[in-house]
Amino acid sequence: MRRNPWFETVAEAQHRAEKRLPAMVYGALVAGSERGRTIEHNVSAFADLGFAPRVAGHHAQRDLSTTVMGVETSFPVLISPTGVQAVNPDGEVAVARAAANRGVIMGLSSFASKPVEEVVAANPNTFYQMYWSGDRDAMVQRMDRARKAGAKALIATLDWSFSHGRDWGSPAIPDKIDFKTAMRLAPGVLPRPGWLWRFAKTGRVPDLTVPNLQPPGGTAPTFFGAYAEWMQTPPPTWDDVKWMRTEWDGPFLLKGITRVDDARKAVDAGVTALSVSNHGGNNLDTTPATIRVLPSIVEAVGDQIEVLLDGGVRRGGDVAKALALGARAVLIGRAYLWGLAANGQAGVENVLDIMRSGLDSAVLGLGHTGVRDLSPRDLVIPPGFHLTLGGETGSDSTKD
Ligand SMILES: Cc1cc2nc3c(=O)[nH]c(=O)nc-3n(C[C@H](O)[C@H](O)[C@H](O)COP(=O)(O)O)c2cc1C
Repeated sequence: MRRNPWFETVAEAQHRAEKRLPAMVYGALVAGSERGRTIEHNVSAFADLGFAPRVAGHHAQRDLSTTVMGVETSFPVLISPTGVQAVNPDGEVAVARAAANRGVIMGLSSFASKPVEEVVAANPNTFYQMYWSGDRDAMVQRMDRARKAGAKALIATLDWSFSHGRDWGSPAIPDKIDFKTAMRLAPGVLPRPGWLWRFAKTGRVPDLTVPNLQPPGGTAPTFFGAYAEWMQTPPPTWDDVKWMRTEWDGPFLLKGITRVDDARKAVDAGVTALSVSNHGGNNLDTTPATIRVLPSIVEAVGDQIEVLLDGGVRRGGDVAKALALGARAVLIGRAYLWGLAANGQAGVENVLDIMRSGLDSAVLGLGHTGVRDLSPRDLVIPPGFHLTLGGETGSDSTKD
């Protein structure tokens, strides 16, 4: 008998993803770096926060909707951009359709497997994400392409510092999957015939190219070709960030802030919003959990720009906690990737439904009429939970 494809928690989706994906693809989604401390803390810090619910006077109607940089979303969860190939043949188009069906915003990575034009066609509320990679002409050309495709905002992710190596070992991802590579990978892939079959039905193997970084008149680079260009690009200064912001004449979100001083510089650079993020624990390990540094950043710049958060969100209750501590919205990464692996587009919709209903339960139980009423008074916050990096406030701050 075929098992019900619906799952009730993100943990269950992850469990199914692990069973369905070849080990190397699953390993690429787990990601993390070094000891894996940050990835673990992002998740566990949410569990360390408690709720302070009410028992009566609840509201039958609750409004979860909001806007992010002027774009409407039915509830405050966005798809975080992830440059992961080979999870599902429809990749980011399936994710974008799921997001559109649930009325939420799609973040598309420039390292994604699907062209921005196809993704915007599937979800007009798409934000396009770029790294600081290549020369300025190439970056302008990529921004122009995304703008012409109809992307509604730019996400600049600037927190990557090429930290490689994991104590549990990194998956061996090939540069390109041709017949020879497929044979070499066969022992890892054959125990997962369902995954292979989903690709086989489309008549192609995952080609691991990066269509959004294709130069005009050229061919799309491979994932590792694009990565090499990025590694060779001199890192950006704050003037470069200002330049990038000026080149994109629409809403601009800077992703990867954990320090108060950086948040202030981001405001000076003219950003519309920032995401408190440590790249899901994939970059500098032992960077603190994002939820612990969120309040300091909201306090510093929250009255000037929108502050979002990503990292470790696995439940609707986590979304409520981030909002209570001042986030306008959150972005999710692994949660929807597990859903995509478990059940394609429907699996991503399933994850979004889990997030929505968990958030709604929290808003109901806390006695609110909507997400805008959430505040720190709704939470039980352990002593010493909040951290301030690169700022003056708080006893556990790290000073310049
Ligand atoms: C496998 C993987 C690939 C990612 N690729 C990108 C990317 O291309 N661009 C980007 O801005 N962030 C990327 N991220 C980071 C996510 O956008 C997001 O910050 C992170 O996943 C949030 O943490 P969570 O997975 O715990 O939700 C990636 C994350 C993962 C797990």
